[in-house]
Amino acid sequence: MSPLRRRTFLVLAGGLGSMAGSGVFAGRAAASVINGELLTSRIELPEPFSVPLPAAPFAKAVRQADGSDRFEVVQRAADVEILPGVRTRVWGFDGLFPGPVFTGQAGRPVVVSVRNELPVPTSMHLHGGVTPPDSDGYPTDLVVPAGWQHHDAMAGGHHDAPAAGRQLTELTKEYRYPLDQRAATLWYHDHRMDFTAPQVWRGLLGLFVVRDSAELALPLPSGERDLPLLICDRAFDEDGDFRYPSLDPELIDPPGVEDAYMAGVVGDVVLVNGAPWPELEVDAARYRLRLLNGSNARRYRLALRPGPRDGAAFTQIGSDAGLLAEPVELDAVPIAPGERYDVVVDFSAWPVGSTVTLVNTLGDGDTRWVMRFRVVREAADDSEVPARLADPDELSQDQAVAHRQFSFRRTRTSHGGHAWTINGESFDPETTLATTSLGSVERWRFISDVHHPVHLHLAHFQVVARGGGDPHPWDGGWKDTVDVRPKEPVDVLVRFRGYPGRYILHCHNLEHEDMAMMGNFQVE
Ligand code: C2O
Ligand code: CU
Ligand code: CU
Repeated sequence: MSPLRRRTFLVLAGGLGSMAGSGVFAGRAAASVINGELLTSRIELPEPFSVPLPAAPFAKAVRQADGSDRFEVVQRAADVEILPGVRTRVWGFDGLFPGPVFTGQAGRPVVVSVRNELPVPTSMHLHGGVTPPDSDGYPTDLVVPAGWQHHDAMAGGHHDAPAAGRQLTELTKEYRYPLDQRAATLWYHDHRMDFTAPQVWRGLLGLFVVRDSAELALPLPSGERDLPLLICDRAFDEDGDFRYPSLDPELIDPPGVEDAYMAGVVGDVVLVNGAPWPELEVDAARYRLRLLNGSNARRYRLALRPGPRDGAAFTQIGSDAGLLAEPVELDAVPIAPGERYDVVVDFSAWPVGSTVTLVNTLGDGDTRWVMRFRVVREAADDSEVPARLADPDELSQDQAVAHRQFSFRRTRTSHGGHAWTINGESFDPETTLATTSLGSVERWRFISDVHHPVHLHLAHFQVVARGGGDPHPWDGGWKDTVDVRPKEPVDVLVRFRGYPGRYILHCHNLEHEDMAMMGNFQVE
């Protein structure tokens, strides 16, 4: 199959068209909110709120003499219990789903040695990391299983990124993360060319928390009241394994999904830290929730039901790339794939004995539920949300040395098919969409046909306008991913800080990404 052919989808009716027409989504409005096709589980699912929220497993670092922290992980298959009494085969970092939570200190480099014991190549990316290009998880910079090159050749060169910086490392690669950046809730996931979506779906994702002294000095909720919550949806097959509509279930060749799922794969089970609609007992006190949408394509609008006695449900304190200058009160948190929201919820605003449900107001049936908190006891609470949280740099328009526009849309190809493109181009490792200079600020405008969560590697940005007007209240702070909505251009000021080299921007709907909605930018 030629590279061009396999990155396009020929039948529009099987992609966006079927969404609007399927029984699940009533009409176009719903389709544009969900942006994907629902995959239904073929096994009995548990009642929501019947399993406990698993404590996030933290990875253990070994301190190195050179001032770095070293982690060693193995990517491997494992059978884990996600649905009660059911075994699910996952591909996980250390066999865990989701992977362990890594923690690092700003300014202290972290080295992660990744050993790939899976039958396919992988590429680990630290999302939100300010990382040199050789450790950034470029899609063709692969850690391959032993003997893969031979296999590759046999299969007729299906990985079509020949000369353009393609790197193959056998078995083990050391990723070096300088963490010369602010405290933030980052995450990591697989980034293999053409196969990111199925490999993340199988389990290659996890959180990476960066702390710094400025944040640690604040009286924010900490310890057990600092909760990383990785939210993602999945569907299950009759045998308990994850269901996913890959064209090749071996993930070798060809890449891609069945036509009906070209708009994105949406599951019918919402998992938090790997558990279906879990429940957690909490004190009547403030909690910091580090929310990550790690779903392939599903967008959520998170709210609490019932709402608090008074005040807003959420106090947003941080965005993708760290603390906001000042807290923002929100009744709901819209969160697109790849985005993080750092919020504080004060459970003393509900009577002891209450159940407080984290709901997804964009969901349907059981996907309206995310998890439930039970406020079980009064407790001392000396935490606070200070009126001033941080002093992040604020960019201004006049710093922008260039203006560029990137259009994320479906494009008709010469042979009658359609492709997900940026400025009309399908991803090609050899093509550069923008050349920028290290240290500079540019104003970028993203425009889209349907929902596309737009993400940049390396460079963080600030949203300065939406649809020509002011940004939403939840758009504040430094971000690396922004939900670009239909016909609502988003303007951002991007700062190219960090390292020179080749980086990518892409849609974080992972099915769109695999279908080449990705491009290079060069930092010089
Ligand atoms: Cu979440 Cu290219 O990344
Ligand atoms: Cu990223
Ligand atoms: Cu997209």
